[in-house]
Amino acid sequence: MNVVITGSTKGIGLGLAREFLRRGHAVMVSSRRSDAVEQVVADLRREYPRERVAGQPCDVGDFEQVQKLWDAAVAALGRVDIWINNAGRDGMKVPFFMLPPEDMKQTITTNLIGLMNCNRVCITGMYRQKGGWIWNMEGFGSNGAVRPTVGVYGASKYAVRYFTKAMAKELEKTPVRMGYLSPGIVATDLLVPPPDRRGERWEQNKKILNILADTVETVTPFLVEGMLAAEKNGTAVRWLTNGKVRWRFFKALFVKRDVFGPLGA
Ligand SMILES: NC(=O)c1ccc[n+]([C@@H]2O[C@H](COP(=O)([O-])OP(=O)(O)OC[C@H]3O[C@@H](n4cnc5c(N)ncnc54)[C@H](OP(=O)(O)O)[C@@H]3O)[C@@H](O)[C@H]2O)c1
Repeated sequence: MNVVITGSTKGIGLGLAREFLRRGHAVMVSSRRSDAVEQVVADLRREYPRERVAGQPCDVGDFEQVQKLWDAAVAALGRVDIWINNAGRDGMKVPFFMLPPEDMKQTITTNLIGLMNCNRVCITGMYRQKGGWIWNMEGFGSNGAVRPTVGVYGASKYAVRYFTKAMAKELEKTPVRMGYLSPGIVATDLLVPPPDRRGERWEQNKKILNILADTVETVTPFLVEGMLAAEKNGTAVRWLTNGKVRWRFFKALFVKRDVFGPLGA
């Protein structure tokens, strides 16, 4: 399989890239920063056959750049079997009235407009090549959950689930397949604020996150396994089910976890 992953120079995206490569697939990595893309391509080519690793910078908020990413993937890999819309940001965690408008705009542009740009390009491309899977990354808010200070991020991810559902319906009689991905809570830069932006609630939050969160290395094999096994349009691959949450809280009475290590110290 040939796989394109947006926002794959670190975090979950990079973990997914490594997991596909480990299983013998070919991957196109991407993010906004060309130096980061070059570095990740060089690193991955040291570990895996160079012809299975390609890279192209792309800001998903810019439609032209997304089209170029598709074209570069087809040129490098031949066709695109799986495209994962993983690029995302969560923005500042402050009450909405204090949020700089630019921060709000960037979150919506990446998480929603960017994801739509990618779907627009992929649906056309995959229709022409007569097949392919598009996976859209959900996040906090996708299931309707609400929490103060994450209104914009939550709204974008709530919309991602709606949009994915709508696209799955639209694509029913086509060769293109659409799926939902949900990684649960993962110890990445997106989840863990840098030390100077942690605020007094970080230590309290960390206690809960240590019960529910996982590492990239734990979650990505599950997500890749689920994507490769999917057959039905509209398949959801979700890591943290309600049952798992209940089990984690019960287990926390007996076992203490530290999923963040030096990242959260
Ligand atoms: N971590 C979690 O707990 C969690 C939970 C649920 C869902 N998710 C979702 O999973 C996805 C990945 O999250 P993560 O935790 O791995 O985040 P991360 O570690 O912050 O990585 C985000 C990646 O996206 C890239 N990116 C950001 N803005 C972009 C843009 N406009 N265009 C292209 N690439 C862009 C970043 O690179 P550049 O900055 O160089 O562009 C980076 O490679 C996101 O959609 C997030 O909402 C995460």
